Amino acid sequence: MSLHLPIKLLITLIFMRKILFVTNNQHKLIEIKTILNGKMEVVKLSDIHFYEEIPETGQTLHENASQKSHAIFDQFQIDCFSDDTGLEIDALNGRPGVYSARYAGEGCSFHNNVVKVLNEMENESNRFARFRTVISLILNREEYFFEGVVEGEITRFEQGNSGFGYDPIFRPLGFNKTFGEMPDDEKNAISHRGEAVHKLAAFLSEKI
Ligand code: IMP
Repeated sequence: MSLHLPIKLLITLIFMRKILFVTNNQHKLIEIKTILNGKMEVVKLSDIHFYEEIPETGQTLHENASQKSHAIFDQFQIDCFSDDTGLEIDALNGRPGVYSARYAGEGCSFHNNVVKVLNEMENESNRFARFRTVISLILNREEYFFEGVVEGEITRFEQGNSGFGYDPIFRPLGFNKTFGEMPDDEKNAISHRGEAVHKLAAFLSEKI
């Protein structure tokens, strides 16, 4: 892995109002591009030919988000942002939380995680949960954090197949359908990531 971005790519990133999103998760990328609505162009890790796994060994969403953006900044010295999201379920003492991605074990699928949560919640009447997203932005060598939260309930079975991850079992408060049953724009308007990204976008439009 080269430690330097090709100069042409670096110039493009700086002058074309592009910012690097430290992810290769296509779902997240599409969500964020939709929310930013062309205000700024977002590129992902594969666009800079970076395919290494970045460790997420923090104990909090802030630590993990920061670890990901620093991993890229330390190698390439380019402005970038990363996000980390957790589903916090009250009856499970905040789990899966920071372990949301690999809750059912290393290499598990979204569906494995959903099944594990539904099994653990089988006899629980308190279904209260929230999604929390933390974004770490590194801009001009300074780090900034943005947070978004959406509260809701864990359903008793999967409903809908839009979105990704835990979407089919999360029903936001005040709605009678899960994120998995919502079109993307409806989810983005109220979601944890939507809130965090709007804060990021407002900040960037003042700074850039
Ligand atoms: P990440 O570490 O930010 O990629 O998120 C950890 C895990 O949380 C993902 O692997 C998904 O299972 C889940 N997740 C993140 N964002 C969402 C979302 O918007 N809806 C449902 N699940 C999500």
